[in-house]
Amino acid sequence: MSSLKEREAWATRIGLILSMAGNAVGLGNFWRFPRLLAANGGGAFMIPYFIALLLLGIPLMWVEWATGRLGGKYGHGTLGPMFYIMARESVKPRKALIFAVIGGMIAFSVTTLLNSYYIHVIGWTAAYSIYSATGAYYGVDTVNFFFDHIKNFQMVMVTWLIPMILLFIAAFRGVSKGIEAFNKVMMPLLYVFAVVLAIRSITIGSPIRPDWSSFAGLNYIWKPDFEALSKNFWVISLAAAGKIFFTLSLGMGIIQNYASYVRKGDDIALSALTTASLNEFAEVILGGSIAIPIAYAYLGPDVVRSGSLGLAFMALPNVFTSMGEVGRFFGTIWFLLLFFAGWTSAIAMYNYLTALLEEDLKINRKIGAVIVFLIYLMLGLPVALDPTLTYFAELDNWVGSYLLVVLGLFDVIVAVWLFKPNNLWKELHEGALIKVPTFFKYVLMTLTPLYIIILLIGTTIDYYNQGIFAQSDPLIVQARIAIIIILVLGAIETYLAISRKYREELAKNQVIVKVE
Ligand code: TRP
Ligand code: TRP
Repeated sequence: MSSLKEREAWATRIGLILSMAGNAVGLGNFWRFPRLLAANGGGAFMIPYFIALLLLGIPLMWVEWATGRLGGKYGHGTLGPMFYIMARESVKPRKALIFAVIGGMIAFSVTTLLNSYYIHVIGWTAAYSIYSATGAYYGVDTVNFFFDHIKNFQMVMVTWLIPMILLFIAAFRGVSKGIEAFNKVMMPLLYVFAVVLAIRSITIGSPIRPDWSSFAGLNYIWKPDFEALSKNFWVISLAAAGKIFFTLSLGMGIIQNYASYVRKGDDIALSALTTASLNEFAEVILGGSIAIPIAYAYLGPDVVRSGSLGLAFMALPNVFTSMGEVGRFFGTIWFLLLFFAGWTSAIAMYNYLTALLEEDLKINRKIGAVIVFLIYLMLGLPVALDPTLTYFAELDNWVGSYLLVVLGLFDVIVAVWLFKPNNLWKELHEGALIKVPTFFKYVLMTLTPLYIIILLIGTTIDYYNQGIFAQSDPLIVQARIAIIIILVLGAIETYLAISRKYREELAKNQVIVKVE
């Protein structure tokens, strides 16, 4: 049996690649990567980073792409039903349903809650694009300016509407006419802006003091400190592995969702690799030469110690101010760069939920796009109403860092172990333009899950030591309650969707529905 209705699909290969790159290239590439590098052994950080890319990131990319395209053949764009189909290869349908509910529930919580605060950050970048063009932060204290902005509920909500309305339009128009069309414009612009900023950054010289140059800044973040690496090997390796997960958008369900719109028999093996490469170019080459070197040249070594929010929204505006009038131009393209990076990731989560309503719950896509808008409005309100960002930070601790890794583990359990490595390999190579070395099949069966388990244990210990478990601020409790409610709703939704579509199969507890 095959799905009755022709599924939506990407119109062009370049559109698919740009959309997938848009999905992966996010705010983290430009504001978090250079800081992480500077704080974790500089160039030496690239050793655990590239090992994690090779043993964790790229293999999981292949798994998620293969999972997605397979799910698409059955008419599914969400993780629960995809996991169900794959787990059935080893266990009976009723047991497969358990794995499906776990996957569907976590992907639901990530796509709702992570995006609920991320879209606010995208809204800030929209506001700051305007502030840069008008010179609004020129001559004022940029730290106060930032907190005044986020305390200004009205302005926050108005500028939040900019990404939200664009997200709505893209999801409403659908995969090829909406998402693909937007990505085909935004992604080339993103790369152009990033290249312009990187060139400006490395040609700036020493505008303030002879010992402050962007080269000194590059040296500051890139100079390998092997001693720091060997002393904090464990912590640094965990940071690198966590970064790889986040930057490739793994463990969120959104790579699978996008891959579900790849036509049956079209390449995924090379496309996955191309996407990862485009992301790494944006992160390592471009991300590694913009924010910190340019801030260093104007503000000196101290600035590099501010957090990622501080660097993007407080330090860099000072840099643009120091540049004088041209600073308005560079400021505007910096915040537009962040806007495009964030938006093209957020649309993947918006679409995941639209697909969930459309396919799991049979709600027309256009109405679904409206409902998703309302969901994000509701879930985003507590973020907008808390200028201390406590609620935001607690969501980020769990949904934006921890649950991704848990979901990554289930990727391997279901799509490699239960689906069986040979089936996965066959699926990955259907229509493939490259042959993936068999080495990676064994890596996926062994090293990748081991790596994830170590990362999970390490993060848990780290959270314990930081006292994150013991916190009990009301806003933190509120964030935790939100996460639990969303997880429960996600579990119920997945259960209902699968038990409706696969009723007969679950009743008899044997596989009936099979494509091909
Ligand atoms: N890969 C993104 C980054 O590096 C993370 C991301 C992807 C994301 N999709 C998202 C974050 C959607 C929030 C919402 O920044
Ligand atoms: N201050 C946090 C940091 O230094 C901010 C942060 C972490 C963040 N992850 C994020 C902000 C994701 C937005 C989205 O990294």
